[in-house]
Amino acid sequence: AEPGLLHGKKVVVTSGGTIERIDPVRYITNDSSGKMGFAIAKAAREMGASVHLIHGHTDTAPPAGIDAEAVQSADDMYQAVLKHWHDSDMVIKAAAVADYRPAETASSKIKKKGDTMTLELIKTVDILEQLGKSKTNQFLIGFAAETHNVEVYAKDKLVRKNCDLIVANDVTAEGAGFRSDTNIVQVYDADGLVEQMPVMSKDEIARRLLTIAAARMNGAGN
Ligand code: PMT
Repeated sequence: AEPGLLHGKKVVVTSGGTIERIDPVRYITNDSSGKMGFAIAKAAREMGASVHLIHGHTDTAPPAGIDAEAVQSADDMYQAVLKHWHDSDMVIKAAAVADYRPAETASSKIKKKGDTMTLELIKTVDILEQLGKSKTNQFLIGFAAETHNVEVYAKDKLVRKNCDLIVANDVTAEGAGFRSDTNIVQVYDADGLVEQMPVMSKDEIARRLLTIAAARMNGAGN
């Protein structure tokens, strides 16, 4: 990637999985390691951007030298993103955000009782959708982690969440998705497929994605 392509731009990246508390010792999360978002944050910095990384639960510490902020729940992540939204040039939502959280978080450990127990879940805020609704000049990139009907669901998310680009990720494919060092993705815009990226390192995917995005953001086409 060209080093100066994002010079002077503020880029916000979200990464990792959110943690939705059930009680003080239990929570709901997902398999995100943070690697994909970390790779994007590093690539954006290499390309000259001022980067703010907002991350949930991750397997490793965030990359050294990146301005990073740790959050827990989807709601915390939303509040953190909002603080940076208005002066951002580009926002990339690689985080795996919970769609539902426990309706109530118990303040003390829930004790074992009967043979079954029911946990009531309620919808979390859809951060990407909210950003899409309040977008002014920000270039907005979403991800779509899917196990089936990848293209259909990804295109639906692109439109519904008003993204400029969506990165479709078949997380069941060998060498793709959660935790691996590689990924396989398709990048779509409103007109259709922009680029099919065969299996490659998350670092390389990040550089290619940002090169496409920077060219579009800077109005140079693709
Ligand atoms: O972290 P790794 O181990 O490297 O794995 C990478 C990854 C698989 C997590 C990543 O490549 C990926 O696909 N991230 C998106 C995961 C996800 O939550 O996908 P989704 O299809 O459920 O959500 C679609 C988009 O909406 C995502 O950009 C997501 O950040 C966003 N979203 C979802 C729900 C919600 N409540 N708020 C959101 O903003």
